[in-house]
Parts: sequence; structure tokens; C-alpha cells
Amino acid sequence: MPNQPPAPMPPLFTWEFAADPYPAYAWLREHAPVHRTTLPSGVDAWLVTRYADARQALADSRLSKNPAHHSEQAHRTGRVGIPGERQADLMTHLLNIDPPDHTRLRRLVSKAFTPRRVAEFEPRVQRLTDRLIDTFAARGSADLIHEFAFPLPIYAICDLLGVPAEDQDDFRDWAGMMIRHGGGPRGGVARAVKKMRAYLLELIHRKRGGELGEDLISGLIRASDHGEHLTENEAAAMAFILLFAGFETTVNLIGNGVFALLNHPEQRARLQASVAAGETGLLTTAVEELLRYDGPVELATWRFATSPLSIGGVDIPVGDPVLVVLAAADRDPARFDQPDTMDLARRDNPHLGFGHGIHYCIGAPLARLEGQRALATLLTRLPDLRLAAEPGELRWRGGLIMRGLRELPVSFTPEK
Ligand code: HEM
Repeated sequence: MPNQPPAPMPPLFTWEFAADPYPAYAWLREHAPVHRTTLPSGVDAWLVTRYADARQALADSRLSKNPAHHSEQAHRTGRVGIPGERQADLMTHLLNIDPPDHTRLRRLVSKAFTPRRVAEFEPRVQRLTDRLIDTFAARGSADLIHEFAFPLPIYAICDLLGVPAEDQDDFRDWAGMMIRHGGGPRGGVARAVKKMRAYLLELIHRKRGGELGEDLISGLIRASDHGEHLTENEAAAMAFILLFAGFETTVNLIGNGVFALLNHPEQRARLQASVAAGETGLLTTAVEELLRYDGPVELATWRFATSPLSIGGVDIPVGDPVLVVLAAADRDPARFDQPDTMDLARRDNPHLGFGHGIHYCIGAPLARLEGQRALATLLTRLPDLRLAAEPGELRWRGGLIMRGLRELPVSFTPEK
């Protein structure tokens, strides 16, 4: 309407925003697509919300991942990065470094994530999925976050890394401490990270002194023993980032995904019928659409301007942090037809849920496998799965980077 003043900007980072950030992101995309704001931690950062700008920024080598490029003050006070990593010397991981170190370290782990290697992992992921559903199937109710979505990726990554079965419950506890304290007091996260680091260094020592297997940590040790440059700290940091990047994300893919399906009964019924008929086509596009529609990573991790650059016509000063809002870009009407509509059969779907450019998610094939097996198995074994709460009653975590539910109570006809 002419002469209508624009609606005021919806507040960011409130509880209402955490429950549904999409109206605020729509406002930003339209009125302030490259917007400087103060984050809850007190750090000032640019939010990039349009799809075209987001893709460009994710691939721009003038935006460094190394927090040393952050302008002085916030860097000194340790308010950027993953809580706990600074204290525990785990900084030299893929999401904090630039080429050439990034290229060298990424090459070392990329072998573990080829589609073929990950496909070999499928029977294990299926067994794990069934084993977890076994623990609550006879009860008729469950909290799908705590009893299913949370343990599944932890055990999967432990298997991948080569953490012995008897130690995997320790990882479950440490990961629990990290997720519980996410966005809250840093002390608990730092303690969990410290324990994880000590354990990983010890495991690297133990494996080096004994038999090496086919697991990823053995692969890293072999690589460093065969002249590839890899320090023990780098190996521990690598194991840590795989856990950190691979678990809460996958928890939220499953949690957000099941929640979205339960809120769209017609599409859920179509997917259920397709899975029951043994088809995989709709399941594959469904997981991509769930990543686009309500993906686990709301904002890509930090980037810092190392030389003056402009994004969407806005000049970004050197040293300023830039946060690419994947959740906003993936609802951009300039790129996606009917972006606020969930369409499990969507074909034209180049979503940014796994990022873009040289830091594109290395674990994407594993995440897709886990997401597909988790959804297909839940819908098959618990066909009348339903929410055991009003959608509006559910609490979202409200962290900065990740988007996910605190709990997902469901009920269903108990399995005999
Ligand atoms: C990077 C998303 C699962 C390991 C990323 C990035 C995104 C992402 C958006 C890029 C971040 C940036 O550019 O700042 C996701 C989502 C997942 C998932 C949505 C689940 C649905 C996993 C899994 C693993 C993993 C299962 C490994 C076990 C990594 C690693 C990086 C990364 C190591 C850093 C890559 C690099 O910097 O070169 N992920 N991820 N992710 N992801 Fe994932």
C-alpha cells in the first residue's frame, strides 16, 4: 500500500524469536538484508539474510574463519567461537582455519566421508536406530529428543571415530553436558570439553601403541605416521570438531524434522506410504526439504573480514564478524518458490543447510543417511506416532547457531 510506513522490525533473540524466527528474518531480508546488530553475548556482528548474498559470503576468501582476525576487543574476552574450545587448546579445527592449513586437514578426513564409505555404514546406522526405538517402543510414549535423536548421532560418530563401545556412554554424558549448557553458563561446557580432550588424546596414544583399525582416528594416526603433517593436538581437535559439528546438528535434523512432519499430516501420510512401499525417492527429497524448511543450523559459524569488502552493497569494515543466516537464506522468495511452504517432493532445492564453499559440511552424507534411516524407521515401526503436547507448548533451545527443540514428547500404539 502506498505511503504505508514499514512494519517495525520484530525483536531478535527473544523467546518468541527462538520459537519462530522466520517473520523476523523475512523483515530483515526485505528491509535490512545486511544488518549490523548486537548479539546477546554483547558482540556486534553483521547478519546476512538474502540467499544470493549468503552464497557469495560463504564462498568469499576475504572472510576468514580464524578468530584471530576478529577486531581486538571481543576476541580478547573470548566471546566468539565454540564455548570451551579456547581453554582446551582445541582451536585448530576445520571451522577455525583457512587455507592452506584447512586444505591439508580437510584432505585427511575427507576419505572417511566419501558416499561409498558412508554407504558401508548404513547397516550400523540401521541397527543403532532400531536398538534405540526398542528401548521405548513397548511403552507407548517417549521424548524423542532425549531417547532417540540425541543418542543416535553420538553413537554413530563414536563408531566412526573408533571409540570403543564401553567408552561410548561417557561421550553421551559429555555431549549431554555440552547440549544442556549450550547458550548458558560456559563452565559446564568447558568441563565437558576438557574431559573429552583428555580422553581423545589418551585414545590416540593407546591406538598408536596397539593395533590400528579401519576407524577414523586410526586413519589420522596412519596419515601422521606417513609423513602427512598432523600434530597430536590437531588430531584431537579434528575428533572434537567431528563430534561437535556432527551431533547437535543431527539431533536437530531429526527433532525439527519429526516435529514438522507431525504438523503436516497430509505430507507425513504420503511419506509414510512411500516408505512402506519400499521407495526411497520421496524420503531423499523430504530430508533435503526438512533441512531447508527448518534446518538445524540457523546461522553459519563465524567469519571475519580480513580486507574491506561489500556484501549486497553494504561495506563491511576489516575485523568485523559476519554471520550468514542460513535459515533466512533458505526461505528467500527470490530463490525458492513458495518458500514458507513445506513440500517434501520439492525438486529445485539448492538449500544452504549444509553451508557452501570450502567449509561445506564434510559430514553431509552421514547426516543424510542418519536422517533418512531415523525418519523411515520411526514412521514404519510407530505408524500412528503423534505429538503428546500442543505445538505451542514445546520449548526451543534459543542458542545462537543451532535451532532445535528441548524436548519432543510423542505417543503411539505400543509395539507388541
Ligand atoms: C560444516 C551443517 C552434520 C561435520 C558444516 C557447515 C554447516 C553444517 C552449515 C558449514 C559451517 C560454516 O561454513 O560455517 C550440518 C548439518 C548437519 C551436519 C545441518 C546435520 C543435519 C554433520 C556430521 C558431521 C559434520 C554428521 C561429522 C560427523 C562437519 C565438519 C564441518 C561441518 C567437520 C567443517 C567443515 C570445514 O570447515 O571444512 N556443517 N552438519 N556435520 N560439518 Fe556439518
